Amino acid sequence: MQLTLKTCEVRSWRTSDVEPLVRHANNRKIWLNLRDAFPHPYTSRDARDYIRLARQRTPETAFAIAVQDEALGSIGFVLHPDVERVSAEIGYWLAEPFWGRGITTEALVAITRYAIDAHGLTRIYALPFAWNAASCRVLEKAGYVLEARLRRSAIKDGTITDQMQYAFIVPPATG
Ligand SMILES: CC(C)(COP(=O)(O)OP(=O)(O)OC[C@H]1O[C@@H](n2cnc3c(N)ncnc32)[C@H](O)[C@@H]1OP(=O)(O)O)[C@@H](O)C(=O)NCCC(=O)NCCS
Repeated sequence: MQLTLKTCEVRSWRTSDVEPLVRHANNRKIWLNLRDAFPHPYTSRDARDYIRLARQRTPETAFAIAVQDEALGSIGFVLHPDVERVSAEIGYWLAEPFWGRGITTEALVAITRYAIDAHGLTRIYALPFAWNAASCRVLEKAGYVLEARLRRSAIKDGTITDQMQYAFIVPPATG
């Protein structure tokens, strides 16, 4: 898969992405805003395992955000089973030196459309921690709407925190 955008590409992971993935992912500021399943420190083995799984999974749901062919971050979604098969959760991160250039917003807009079209979704949601103003802003810029503040719903780095529930909704067809 490859989506060519103005500021970046969103594309399938490649085995050659291991080195830049470790270099960019091994960052406590990134880890602090993600689930604990995202390792810290982030090792070459973590990168190899992640890329192998991303490439094996069918359907493909995790992609690299790349600029000039270098993987600078990740964006992906988790499809839900059973009656929630029209819903998915989205997540993303970008290498710190590239923050503030609109890259993640553009990637999020594109992957939201891709996921809806490829999987017949009606709802995609994200759950940034309440302190993550940058991610809340990215979601708002990409057309996601704040639905709820899930009070004291998570623990990160030993701190209980609220999560902000944002969703992008596909309205019912009319006519
Ligand atoms: C969140 C993250 C993905 C944003 O990526 P990015 O490429 O810098 O995002 P963009 O440049 O598209 O947009 C960032 C927006 O947040 C704003 N922003 C950044 N820091 C902010 C802060 N502390 N408070 C308020 N807004 C902030 C920027 O000004 C920009 O908005 P603007 O265009 O209106 O000026 C990146 O910071 C990151 O990887 N963080 C760590 C991992 C993470 O939080 N992942 C999401 C988990 S839900």
